Amino acid sequence: MKFTSVLAFFLATLTASATPLYKRQNVTSGGGTVPVIITGGPAVSGSQSNVTTTTLFNSTSTLNITQLYQIATQVNQTLQSESSSGIIIVTNWRSIETLSFFCSIVFNTSKTIVITENFLWGVPILSSSDAEGRGTLVAGRDKVVYSGVFPPYTVPVGVLSGQKNVQWFFDACEPTLIASNSTIRTQYSNFTSAQISSNASSGTNTSSSSSSPLVPIIYEEGYSQSLIQSLSSSIQGLVVVSSGTSHNSTVASWTSVDFPVVYASDGSSGHDGSGIGFISNTSIPQGAISAGYLSPIQAQTLLSIAIHNQVTSSSELQQIFPVSQQ
Ligand SMILES: *[C@@H]1O[C@H](CO)[C@@H](O)[C@H](O)[C@H]1NC(C)=O
Ligand SMILES: *[C@@H]1O[C@H](CO)[C@@H](O)[C@H](O)[C@H]1NC(C)=O
Ligand SMILES: *[C@@H]1O[C@H](CO)[C@@H](O)[C@H](O)[C@H]1NC(C)=O
Ligand SMILES: *[C@@H]1O[C@H](CO)[C@@H](O)[C@H](O)[C@H]1NC(C)=O
Ligand SMILES: *[C@@H]1O[C@H](CO)[C@@H](O)[C@H](O)[C@H]1NC(C)=O
Ligand SMILES: *[C@@H]1O[C@H](CO)[C@@H](O)[C@H](O)[C@H]1NC(C)=O
Ligand SMILES: *[C@@H]1O[C@H](CO)[C@@H](O)[C@H](O)[C@H]1NC(C)=O
Ligand SMILES: *[C@@H]1O[C@H](CO)[C@@H](O)[C@H](O)[C@H]1NC(C)=O
Ligand SMILES: *[C@@H]1O[C@H](CO)[C@@H](O)[C@H](O)[C@H]1NC(C)=O
Ligand SMILES: *[C@@H]1O[C@H](CO)[C@@H](O)[C@H](O)[C@H]1NC(C)=O
Ligand SMILES: *[C@@H]1O[C@H](CO)[C@@H](O)[C@H](O)[C@H]1NC(C)=O
Ligand SMILES: *[C@@H]1O[C@H](CO)[C@@H](O)[C@H](O)[C@H]1NC(C)=O
Repeated sequence: MKFTSVLAFFLATLTASATPLYKRQNVTSGGGTVPVIITGGPAVSGSQSNVTTTTLFNSTSTLNITQLYQIATQVNQTLQSESSSGIIIVTNWRSIETLSFFCSIVFNTSKTIVITENFLWGVPILSSSDAEGRGTLVAGRDKVVYSGVFPPYTVPVGVLSGQKNVQWFFDACEPTLIASNSTIRTQYSNFTSAQISSNASSGTNTSSSSSSPLVPIIYEEGYSQSLIQSLSSSIQGLVVVSSGTSHNSTVASWTSVDFPVVYASDGSSGHDGSGIGFISNTSIPQGAISAGYLSPIQAQTLLSIAIHNQVTSSSELQQIFPVSQQ
């Protein structure tokens, strides 16, 4: 099972950002350093020259949307002030999927953003020539480099071939979802803002009056009508993990709820366990939106970014998810 709990909440309180977000530590000085942002994951001992680390948090659980935007703000500042070809973000294993997808959507940059559990695995990527223009990448323990647009460890794009080198499998190119002519880039240019909105952006007043949307993930088999009713006043969106081929939804229609509902496939029905599935817009209840090939966590991340930018109508959301893009 991919999820440790049935409900994975993005919690709602936006903590005051007036407190210092990070502490900076000089690992080395001089030119040619690789910027590293630490948000969790195991501490790496041993000296590594040419690395400048900034510690934001030391989280052991899945990063929430507030933390993701805090990271984005820091990444944006760092990328603008450094001459490096990119940046490494170290995080815990639970957060790899949401962080790599979040960065793929939010950053429209030719610099490379490497998400990893251990910065040592990421350094060769940024040292390699030809690292730019590849978007967000995930560096795995196995020395393989994966695309950040797909669930981690599913779509390899290169392999480490030395201390400073990567053998890339493809020329640098843009994934369709976020290509420069994609719907997300052309019509939702506000998604590529790393700024934490300073005022409440949720359309409805919630008890916490926060700008961080709550978008839980539930399993199609695992919920009851009363659970949804008890949640409905406190959530801004919902991701339902489709039970797969045997479609036996307990809900025939979602047209009566006032938050967006996205159905996603967890890809576990695939023989090869690739972790990528597809759910078409014809096999979901009325009023719901299909996530296409996005995983449940990716759907949650994209929906949270959309809601953060006040994009909540079905017609708009349908264009964003990769199901009707032809
Ligand atoms: C996000 O997680 C941090 C650390 O666990 C927590 O302090 C904060 O309150 C959370 N924020 C939200 C919006 O849930
Ligand atoms: C980090 O290095 C820079 C340049 O070498 C230096 O100016 C700065 O004082 C150092 N900062 C710390 C905290 O050591
Ligand atoms: C890394 O640091 C070493 C010395 O610690 C230096 O010789 C080398 O040129 C540096 N490499 C880069 C790419 O800056
Ligand atoms: C994060 O905290 C854990 C303990 O909770 C500790 O073992 C680890 O070294 C810390 N990581 C960093 C980078 O400080
Ligand atoms: C984007 O451009 C490519 C060619 O560069 C084209 O094949 C594709 O159809 C375009 N997509 C959209 C949505 O316009
Ligand atoms: C993305 O970056 C390209 C090149 O820098 C730029 O032309 C385009 O307008 C940017 N798109 C968005 C949505 O910011
Ligand atoms: C990065 O920060 C600059 C200002 O410091 C801002 O103009 C720019 O829009 C930010 N970029 C993103 C992606 O938020
Ligand atoms: C929220 O921010 C926007 C600009 O980002 C501004 O136009 C709007 O007036 C603000 N709303 C409130 C209630 O402050
Ligand atoms: C939303 O909250 C504001 C102040 O927090 C209040 O003035 C307004 O009446 C509320 N709107 C609704 C629809 O509850
Ligand atoms: C739906 O559920 C009913 C009874 O629970 C069962 O008889 C039927 O075969 C199911 N349909 C599918 C497609 O699984
Ligand atoms: C972001 O862009 C979309 C599409 O243009 C628009 O509908 C939405 O209102 C924008 N969000 C904000 C907060 O301006
Ligand atoms: C499903 O998406 C296709 C485009 O791929 C569109 O033509 C069709 O109307 C959509 N169907 C529904 C039920 O939304």
